[in-house]
Amino acid sequence: MSSRLSIQFPIGSRVQLEQLSKNPYPILKELQQLEPVSWVEDLQMWFVTRFDDVSAVLHDVETFTLEDDESLLNEIFGRTMISTDGADHTRLRTPFHPPFLPKFVRNEMSLHIKARANALIDTFIADGTADLATQWADRLALEMVMQMLGLPIEDFFLVRSWFSDIGQALANVKRHPEIKQRGQKAAAQFTDFARIHLERLRKTPDNSILGNLANTSAMLTDTEILEACRVIIFGGLETTAALLLNCTWAILNRSDVQQKILQTPSLFIPAIEETLRWEPPVQTLARRATRDTQIRGVSIKAGDMLSCMIGAANRDPSVFTQPDDFMLERNNAKHHLSFAIGRHFCLGAALARLEGEIALQVLFERLPNLRLDVDKPDQPVGHEFRSPPTLWVRWDKKPNQ
Ligand code: HEM
Repeated sequence: MSSRLSIQFPIGSRVQLEQLSKNPYPILKELQQLEPVSWVEDLQMWFVTRFDDVSAVLHDVETFTLEDDESLLNEIFGRTMISTDGADHTRLRTPFHPPFLPKFVRNEMSLHIKARANALIDTFIADGTADLATQWADRLALEMVMQMLGLPIEDFFLVRSWFSDIGQALANVKRHPEIKQRGQKAAAQFTDFARIHLERLRKTPDNSILGNLANTSAMLTDTEILEACRVIIFGGLETTAALLLNCTWAILNRSDVQQKILQTPSLFIPAIEETLRWEPPVQTLARRATRDTQIRGVSIKAGDMLSCMIGAANRDPSVFTQPDDFMLERNNAKHHLSFAIGRHFCLGAALARLEGEIALQVLFERLPNLRLDVDKPDQPVGHEFRSPPTLWVRWDKKPNQ
């Protein structure tokens, strides 16, 4: 069957993971134009690349589900909102909906984001150089999710090390037993840690998510609450860090954009939205066909896996003019699919957007003449999560620093 499909989809048969990781956009453009629904032999999946098709697949949870008992997500996290559809999904997600609404997030989190973005910069400002990935974005992203949940940010390093093991286990496509075991152990250790705080907040509630759910959620068991915490941290960590880094990288590569933004800081908002469209932190969303169906006349069999290619959909010329250009003045950037669409629309989108808006403004205000370190060049990479692994920058030190 594979060889027949390879002949039928010659561009798909040329797609290689390494190439997607390095620079996915040229081959995605070719697919979008000539094989918009294509069989990718290397991954044994259908790639869907046009905006309308990706959007339709994500909306149709009955035909294209993310439920998959064999998935790595299930293996590490159990059944959570990100691996269920239908009534189970609604039940597991609903209690977490109100604290992530944009107005609530802005009221509760603006000051925390500003304070921590500044405090992290204080730790390296005297050096005149830093790796923004490890010294700033990664820490800020995790600390802000911990803050929202009601977990003490002083335990950052502990939680970070568990989520490094969890991240590796979720990327463990070759299913190495030791990596799986390490991930499952880290997930259990995190749960024990979060359970202690759930109990603490049950006795002395505060306005955090766990503080509220500890005494009010009749819908979820403690285990379900704690499993959701793992998914929420995983969902908000590398993704938000990637947004901060991809946006900083995009601005620092364009002196005209940098100048404009420094003069008019409200432009950080369109810069964040355009970064989400142009270099999405999450590049691909997997779905499984529940029945035989067709997309654009291509037959998909029940059980087949599909990859909704967000990076391609966000550059579909039928929706976005000059899609490869990074343009602050684009008036429909927010139509991107980087937070998905439909039932699984990203729970933390408002937090990620707010973090981008506030943290980037702080960064560019605090570090004069911020620029990329030409001796240590970086750029976004990755086929699933996409961001620069390190982002070395320099700035002019003030005399008193
Ligand atoms: C720029 C940052 C972010 C990006 C690009 C992003 C992207 C996404 C995408 C594409 C999905 C849909 C997954 C799917 O349909 O298969 C999703 C779901 C989710 N995200 Fe985010 N995310 C970001 C930040 C966050 C943050 C800050 C949090 C929490 C603090 C979060 C928590 C979640 C959760 C819990 C889900 C599952 C929702 C569900 O299945 O109903 N995300 N995210």
